[in-house]
Amino acid sequence: MTCLRFLGVVLTALVTVAGGKLKLIGDELASDLHGNAVAVRPAKKSMADGPEPGDLADSFTVRTLDGEFSYKQGPQLGPLIVHAFTNKSGFLECLWSSESSLSSLVEELPDSTQVLFLSLDDCALSDVWWMREQVRKKEVLSRLHFSPVPVFALGNWIPFVLYYWGCVSRNCVLAQAVFSSEGWNMPIIIKRLDARYDWLMTRWTQTSYQLLDAGDGCDASPTVAGAVAWVSEGNCSFFTKVQNMAKSNASGVLVYALPGNPIQDMNCIKDECNTTLNIPAAMVHQDPSVAQALRSAQLVFVSFQTTPSPYFFFGVDQQGALSEMGWFLYPSFSFVNWQAQWFDFYTELQTKLQNPAKVVPVFDKVQMQGEEGAVATVNMPPGLLDFNVLELDASLSCPGKRDLSCAHWDHTVQLFICCDRLSPHCNTELGRWITAFRRGIGRWLTDVSPLLPLLDGNKCTLTMKTVPWAMPWVVSLNLRFSIGNHTDNGKEVLHPFLVMSLYNGGTFDKNYNKKFQPIKFPVPASTKKVELYAVITAHGSDDHSCGEFCVTSHHFLFNAVFNNSLIFDTAGSPLGCTTRVIEGAVPNEHGTWLYGRGGWCDGLQVDPWRVDITKQLEMNGSNTVVYFGLFEGHDPNPSKDPGYIIMSSFLVFYK
Ligand SMILES: *[C@@H]1O[C@H](CO)[C@@H](O)[C@H](O)[C@H]1NC(C)=O
Ligand SMILES: *[C@@H]1O[C@H](CO)[C@@H](O)[C@H](O)[C@H]1NC(C)=O
Ligand SMILES: *[C@@H]1O[C@H](CO)[C@@H](O)[C@H](O)[C@H]1NC(C)=O
Ligand SMILES: *[C@@H]1O[C@H](CO)[C@@H](O)[C@H](O)[C@H]1NC(C)=O
Ligand SMILES: *[C@@H]1O[C@H](CO)[C@@H](O)[C@H](O)[C@H]1NC(C)=O
Ligand SMILES: *[C@@H]1O[C@H](CO)[C@@H](O)[C@H](O)[C@H]1NC(C)=O
Ligand SMILES: *[C@@H]1O[C@H](CO)[C@@H](O)[C@H](O)[C@H]1NC(C)=O
Repeated sequence: MTCLRFLGVVLTALVTVAGGKLKLIGDELASDLHGNAVAVRPAKKSMADGPEPGDLADSFTVRTLDGEFSYKQGPQLGPLIVHAFTNKSGFLECLWSSESSLSSLVEELPDSTQVLFLSLDDCALSDVWWMREQVRKKEVLSRLHFSPVPVFALGNWIPFVLYYWGCVSRNCVLAQAVFSSEGWNMPIIIKRLDARYDWLMTRWTQTSYQLLDAGDGCDASPTVAGAVAWVSEGNCSFFTKVQNMAKSNASGVLVYALPGNPIQDMNCIKDECNTTLNIPAAMVHQDPSVAQALRSAQLVFVSFQTTPSPYFFFGVDQQGALSEMGWFLYPSFSFVNWQAQWFDFYTELQTKLQNPAKVVPVFDKVQMQGEEGAVATVNMPPGLLDFNVLELDASLSCPGKRDLSCAHWDHTVQLFICCDRLSPHCNTELGRWITAFRRGIGRWLTDVSPLLPLLDGNKCTLTMKTVPWAMPWVVSLNLRFSIGNHTDNGKEVLHPFLVMSLYNGGTFDKNYNKKFQPIKFPVPASTKKVELYAVITAHGSDDHSCGEFCVTSHHFLFNAVFNNSLIFDTAGSPLGCTTRVIEGAVPNEHGTWLYGRGGWCDGLQVDPWRVDITKQLEMNGSNTVVYFGLFEGHDPNPSKDPGYIIMSSFLVFYK
């Protein structure tokens, strides 16, 4: 494609080369091009300290292909996503070429969301013209704004955010292949897109490799042993090519696009994904000099590098605050949609937090780390028995303003409460969350009303902690007491008055179910309702990926007949946790947050499982309950590294 620039010089090219459709654009823009080319307002204040995530975005106006786009500081009806494209990135080229990526933009962008598209390139005009052409569904276009003014000529605060925040995320650097050959003065450096982490875990090393032609790579090619194989697109799957080259002992594979084709996201399909390949692979455009050198049997070497670049995406939420967008694990607009869904979730959460409630602050930006965690002793409000709703308003943020300051790993966070040192309920678990991989935006409202009887005391000590070796998190927690009607569909409002502990989890091996003995219990007089309440998560990785990524089920059997089951059927599914972003799961984490897991997601609260079991019980006789946990319907029986179940479970009696 011809490089069309927005600024002055290339106006003739715009009109003469582009023809039909582009001429229209030329005409539209002509007055600007002749006059003041950059139709943006100057920045209002000094940016010495720079806007950071969480700061209010300033007002701005930019020229677009359709007129102009104006943003006014303050609360917004919906989020704004700003994307700066560059065709120097193979990742972004694929993001804008892949059918599945583009269809997720046009089909799934939340209705609330607007996107402003910019380009970092000299050829901003042709870039954004091409980008708009890629979006074929016109209904969505009214919410997409394409600016032909290159980022370096915007003259407002946007470039500052893009340059100053920089690219810290996976795939937001310029990944490149560097070719050299004896006859050349200069190396040839072109963009590349590495194959998906899904099936290729191996990364390129710093080494320089010889490059050898291996045709279409659809057959083994013994000559490439120790070299990087140069393989054409087509005739068989990407997976087949890489597998053949791995069998041929190649050190890596470069698949080149056929002329006119874009760089694609090389991934496995279906059953192919069962096989792990252990050589790196990437896709590039075919470079004529490289092809020519290989044809004439010249020695060609290739090495791999990444070059930093400005940030490609940032967001402005409904509160008007700037936000990072996290990692895009592969080239798809789904990551934009997930972040936008999360902005919608967060806005709804803000509304819920306006509902009347008695709020008891526990932690206000307190550091949680080490054996101790975060600890606070708080006075409980009088008249607690009048409330029947208790919600935990918890957030986990990072020591700094950027996600880069956040803890790297996903760990279980538990909140324990003790209102009476002598009670068997002292330090019972009141809430559980899983930390996000390196993102500090998480905030959740969890309904733990059935556990209200645990808060029976004037003073309660709350302890929130994770594993002692985790990097620090900054926690905030409010207890929200209110009166709700959710107990019985408009019938009399019931209050929980007694909590009875049942079972805890443990090592998920062949002896797991042996330790759970039936528990006998009477129902106290005047009880109107009994509820089973359990918080269960599965962790670890045995030979069946249990419990994090395998399907486990958990059963509470009452009076030997009533079998209440909780099945973690999305555990291990590729996108299981993406469906929970609308419920507050932190999107675009710096890790594999997308997979479904055993009863949990990264960056989310663990929802309590609640079952009304009143009808399963003898209200004036004796009852029994027993718990058991299964893997695919059977006792677990791992041959190595058993996983474990973390469980709190209770009977809750209401009157
Ligand atoms: C992006 O780069 C590729 C290869 O360098 C080229 O084929 C394509 O036309 C470019 N796209 C745009 C919009 O300039
Ligand atoms: C595909 O296979 C045909 C027949 O073997 C061959 O002629 C052609 O060059 C191959 N295509 C590519 C892209 O290598
Ligand atoms: C690849 O390497 C293995 C182990 O060194 C060797 O046994 C095998 O013959 C090699 N295969 C090819 C195609 O070079
Ligand atoms: C690949 O794995 C899936 C899921 O574990 C399984 O259903 C399928 O049979 C496997 N395919 C092959 C070819 O092994
Ligand atoms: C119960 O509360 C919900 C809001 O939480 C409300 O929509 C509903 O109308 C209420 N039901 C009754 C019977 O009061
Ligand atoms: C439980 O008590 C009620 C009322 O006191 C009585 O009608 C019922 O028969 C009793 N049920 C059992 C199983 O004892
Ligand atoms: C309870 O249900 C599960 C399946 O949902 C089944 O595997 C299990 O055997 C059942 N247990 C009893 C005691 O009925």
